[in-house]
Amino acid sequence: MESRAHRTIYDGCVFARGQGATMQRFRSGDVATLEKLLKEATARPVMVCMDGVNSMTGDVPDLRVYARLCREYDAVLYVDDAHGMGVIGERGPAETSPYGMRGNAIVKHSGETYDNIVLVGGFSKAYSSLLAFLALPTAMKDRLKVAAPTYLYSGPAPVASLATVWAGLDVNEKRGDELRGHLYRLTAKLLGHVRGLGLHTLNVDDTPVVEIPISAEHDLIEVSERLWRAGQYVTLAPYPGVPRDEIGFRIQLTAAHTDAQVDELNNVLTSLAKDGALRPAIPRQRRPS
Ligand SMILES: Cc1ncc(COP(=O)(O)O)c(C=O)c1O
Repeated sequence: MESRAHRTIYDGCVFARGQGATMQRFRSGDVATLEKLLKEATARPVMVCMDGVNSMTGDVPDLRVYARLCREYDAVLYVDDAHGMGVIGERGPAETSPYGMRGNAIVKHSGETYDNIVLVGGFSKAYSSLLAFLALPTAMKDRLKVAAPTYLYSGPAPVASLATVWAGLDVNEKRGDELRGHLYRLTAKLLGHVRGLGLHTLNVDDTPVVEIPISAEHDLIEVSERLWRAGQYVTLAPYPGVPRDEIGFRIQLTAAHTDAQVDELNNVLTSLAKDGALRPAIPRQRRPS
């Protein structure tokens, strides 16, 4: 599936190709194909690039499986967790929800170390700020500092972005886990309603990225206008960005939403479902994304 995340990785691959790298693709979730590709790879170094929390389905890949495989075959694992950052984090008895604590992203969430892993964490989602960072082993960081053109030739991060992230980190420190608990509860309310209506959603991991496919007989623009008129702003997943049977829209809940707002959204979804505009559920499955 094409998404901004895939495009970000794809752009990186185009750049890497220009530097002489070979690119092979595997569908995320397809660990067997990845292992085959790793077995066959003769050139070094090898880098495996993937999403953390998927930008469309909200799925959370089992990073331990990928990390183990990459270490076994001497590959670096590059994970873009723009959507997990600020939402999922390390697990522990004090957590307020299955999202975990501190919002420190998928590597910590999976109980992994950063050995052989490059984590790209973005602040443009949970922190609403134009900033990103890498978390990676020191040797790789030292190398990037002298080899990455964007690091070498760009100006410093804008002060305004640093300031909003700073403020966000403060909120995270003081009441991040409380907010994450609230977000999880709102998401459970939405997903419980969607599943109760017997509707299809690509979300299987209960994250706040909830994609809902529409039925084949309905038009995406009409459905989205109906949502808009009812006060609901969603992002669209049109063909060919997604396969035809997944044309639909993506709801993104945030910790700033309220129970009353989710109730309103659920009412609109009920009315769309009554009119047959939304696809019926198919058996719960983790779709390669
Ligand atoms: C997985 C992923 N990585 C990166 C980005 C781009 O982030 P930014 O807005 O910081 O450029 C997106 C945007 O949606 C994304 O989904």
